Amino acid sequence: MHGSREGNARLFHALVEAVSDSLSNVDVAICVPFPFVAQAQGELQETSILWGVQDVSPNAQGAFTGEVGAAMVAEFGCRYAIVGHSERRIYHGEDSAVIAMKARRAIESGLIPILCVGETLAERESGLTERVVGAQIENIFGQLSIAEARQLAVAYEPLWAIGSGITAPPTEAQRVHAHIRNVLRGRDPGLAALPLLYGGSVKASNAAELLSQRDIDGALVGGASLNTDEFSSICRTAQEMATKLSVREPSTHVRSS
Ligand code: PGA
Repeated sequence: MHGSREGNARLFHALVEAVSDSLSNVDVAICVPFPFVAQAQGELQETSILWGVQDVSPNAQGAFTGEVGAAMVAEFGCRYAIVGHSERRIYHGEDSAVIAMKARRAIESGLIPILCVGETLAERESGLTERVVGAQIENIFGQLSIAEARQLAVAYEPLWAIGSGITAPPTEAQRVHAHIRNVLRGRDPGLAALPLLYGGSVKASNAAELLSQRDIDGALVGGASLNTDEFSSICRTAQEMATKLSVREPSTHVRSS
C-alpha cells in the first residue's frame, strides 16, 4: 500500500528513462494498487514495461461490495495479478481455496497470476520449508486444471525475508526453487517450465547472485521497487543475466509490487 499519483509518476518516468529501451530478454512489470491502474496504463503503455495488480477478487462479478474483479483491471491493460501474497493470507485470512479462485479469475481475464508461497521462520527453523511450500503448491495447483495451471508464475517468498532486509541465502533459495519445480513436474511435466520468481528483500546488491541460481527465473521486488535506482539496477542485472542465459531460458522476469 505505497504510492501517490505524483510519486508514481516520478517512479514510472525514471524507470522508463533508465531501462525501457534496454529490455529485450526480460519482462518487467509494476504491480500497482487498484486506484493507480489507469495511471500505470497511461504512463507505461507506450513503453516496454508492463503493469499489473497486487490482488483480485475470487468472484467474477456481482454483489461483492468493495471487491475488484480481474475483468475490470484487464480493461486497463493489466497483464499480471499477484495472488496469495503472505500479507493477504495473514491479514485477510486467505486460504488455498480462495487463492485458487483468484488465480482462476485472473486466468479467465487473460492475466498471469503470480502465486506467492513461502514458509514462516518457525517452519524454517523446524526444517519444514520444503514440506510447507510443497503443500502450498499442491493445495492450490490441485484445485486448478492442468490448462489453468500452465498459465501461472510462482513466487517463492519466505515470510522471514519479506520486508526484513534479510534475504534467503541464494543456495537455500535455489534448493527450495528446485523443490518447487520438482513438485510442479510431478503434477505435469509441462509445469516444470513455469517461471519461478524469488521474493524477499531482493535489492541491487543481491540480485545477481540470486538470479544466477539455476532455478531462479526472476524476482518479485517489494521495498527496493520504491527506489528507482535500486529497481533499475535490478532490472539491468536481470537483463544482463537473461542475455547470458538466453540459450537456456527464453526470458527472465522481474516484477515489482
Ligand atoms: P520486499 O517485499 O522485497 O520488501 O522484501 C517482497 C514482497 O512483499 O513481495
